[in-house]
Amino acid sequence: MKKSKEIDDQMVSLRVEDGIGYICIDVANESVNTLSPAMSGRMDEILEDLRREPKLVGAVIHSAKKDFIVGFDIKELKRYTQNPEGLDALVSQGHALMGKFESLGVPFVSAIHGNCLGGGLEVALACDARIASDSPKTKLGLPEVMLGVIPGAGGTQRLPRIVDLQVALDMILTGKQLNARKAKRVGLVDEVVHPSILLEVAAQKVRELSKEHKERDKALDFRSVVRDPTGAAMKLVASTPARTLVFSKAREQVLKKTGGHYPAPLKALEVIEVGLADGFEAGLKAESKAFVELLKTEVAQNLINLFFMKNEIDKDPVVPAKVEATKVERLGVLGAGLMGAGIVQLAAYKGYNVRLKDRDHDGLGWGLNYTNGLFQKQVKRKSLSHAEADICMGRVSGTTTYDGFERCELIVEAVFEDLELKQAILKDIESLGNSETIFASNTSTIPISKIAEHAQRPENVIGMHFFSPVHKMPLLEIIRTSKTSDRAIATTLKVGRDMGKTCIVVGDGPGFFTSRVIGSYINEAGWILQEGASVEAIDRTMEKFGFPVGPLKLMDEVGIDVGQKAAKVLGEAFKHRLDQPTALQAIADEGRKGRKNGKGFYLYGEDSKGVDTSVYDKLPGGKKRVDPETEEIRDRIWLAMLNECAYCLEESIASSPRDIDIGVIFGLGFPPFRGGICRYADTVGIRNVVERLNRLADKHGRRLRPAQILVDMAEKQQSFYAR
Ligand code: NAI
Repeated sequence: MKKSKEIDDQMVSLRVEDGIGYICIDVANESVNTLSPAMSGRMDEILEDLRREPKLVGAVIHSAKKDFIVGFDIKELKRYTQNPEGLDALVSQGHALMGKFESLGVPFVSAIHGNCLGGGLEVALACDARIASDSPKTKLGLPEVMLGVIPGAGGTQRLPRIVDLQVALDMILTGKQLNARKAKRVGLVDEVVHPSILLEVAAQKVRELSKEHKERDKALDFRSVVRDPTGAAMKLVASTPARTLVFSKAREQVLKKTGGHYPAPLKALEVIEVGLADGFEAGLKAESKAFVELLKTEVAQNLINLFFMKNEIDKDPVVPAKVEATKVERLGVLGAGLMGAGIVQLAAYKGYNVRLKDRDHDGLGWGLNYTNGLFQKQVKRKSLSHAEADICMGRVSGTTTYDGFERCELIVEAVFEDLELKQAILKDIESLGNSETIFASNTSTIPISKIAEHAQRPENVIGMHFFSPVHKMPLLEIIRTSKTSDRAIATTLKVGRDMGKTCIVVGDGPGFFTSRVIGSYINEAGWILQEGASVEAIDRTMEKFGFPVGPLKLMDEVGIDVGQKAAKVLGEAFKHRLDQPTALQAIADEGRKGRKNGKGFYLYGEDSKGVDTSVYDKLPGGKKRVDPETEEIRDRIWLAMLNECAYCLEESIASSPRDIDIGVIFGLGFPPFRGGICRYADTVGIRNVVERLNRLADKHGRRLRPAQILVDMAEKQQSFYAR
């Protein structure tokens, strides 16, 4: 995808002033700078120009955009997953380019503002020093593992030689990103300065390094002068037993965290270890080989596809472009419980002024404390200063009346899950008289059209279904009714995205999309339990499949009582498919609520581990459990979920396989490495899916009979995604 020469010339420019070369990266017609073969070629030319420059002191690499470099161009990367021809050459080109920064014999300093990720950080690592701007937007990281690969331009070798090995492993194996201050603390950047003096300080650093270089033995390699060869990583290199221990511990942790489903972090460990044991060049060689191998895996292809789907959905206007979102300056939240207080915290953190109401002072006090507690946790983790936390908390005001709510452009309702209460509250809000106010319910199951049944302005009523914990969960499910206005959709989308959420817009109905699908995950587990299986076998099977928690453990976490309420709504709405097995009802009737009251499927308390076997006393078969084949448990549960997704598609609750896959991965914990439930079904083959569902339905009940849409797809040999 080589761009034209004219465009290439605009990617990187060079200006030399007082012996310092300023290499400015500014990829034309793109909002961000990415690395690509075309960019590498242009960079090569610039380095040649610099080499010819008389009296060159050194060079500063900087960006003209709001980010430094966000990484290698993922469109190019995706192209290589489809056709790996030329991949080896690409990796060699990257290594050669980074090597050139190091071999020019003058200091290179990167001036970093905004995102400096992946290949961007690899460029910065190949420089002799890094100066970063003290902006909350400045982030440094190697997120390649999130795409199923590893850094491929020397990052696995240079990072552990610059920062402590543990820090490097943490960044490379998890994709963790550091802000400028943290990067300075770990030694990844040399100085953190105000963005306005970034270039000036970087140029000063070039002069200092150059002077230092001249004052030392000229015969010494420039690299060894500017890098501390006695750093922590190097000490570890010297000690083989210590190194072996660090790596075996790291391997253990990776396996525990990923269940062995993600090959990239394990490969990264291998490659880093080769570099430390056998030297930099051997490490680079191992890195190239591993990068090429990993890019060909199905996991990398799924994760890269997921990246594109997320990007696409984050930009999807959903409503016609001419519809304007209402500017939200005052956000109201009703209900200061777990969800309400969580929404308040995130909104205030993102800069919204929030008015919070609960029915009494106790409730309000609890919510304000919870919100403040979340900010204090951020202070503890050093992601906020005390002053910043105070500013955020200053944006929140509490009340037990509707005072101030008439001025809110958007009000999120998060009171108890009770239809009459929600309807009454909507009536109260409408009676305040602001005809523009959008009323968004955070209900988890009640149809929005029911809440809006008696509304004067149903066009202003919508669902904003956040997930718990609000500050961590990446998904927001926006529910539109047939009467919801485009303005309400555009406004909630804008606010949701401002709050950092990936939003899916779904149709209205009991449980909308996510609660229906998670209902099928839990329900099918309940049926398997009722038929005699053990709790461990069910949860272990689904965790092995890649879910972060098995369905029964999930019930304990969410609250068995809360799950029961949702199950009742779903059971009534989707009889014969989502009606609950009596086992789950019996367990709830015993007063088991899960973790919150220390009584659930599992034991809680100090010396308690594992399943609470007394849970079996009310179940057929009692404590004598007989587990079916793992494969059967797995297929019953994931196929029950897929079937529910298919019904949602059939009923236009979900509008596309893309929305389904984003919803199940970001909201329900479906394993990302499988690319989404629809994509995984494509891999299995829709015909196989239908056959298997029919066999399971014959054996276990008609709820597992495949949805018509699946049957039709199988007949027409279709798949969810174009191949
Ligand atoms: P909660 O029980 O923790 O909080 C509800 C709050 O609403 C309480 O503080 C209560 O005092 C307050 N409230 C009751 N009547 C009120 C009134 N008339 N005016 C003002 N405040 C009033 O409940 P939670 O868990 O925060 O759930 C709230 C809503 O969010 C429910 O509809 C629930 O289904 C939904 N939801 C819950 C999730 C969860 O994981 N807990 C996840 C997603 C949605």
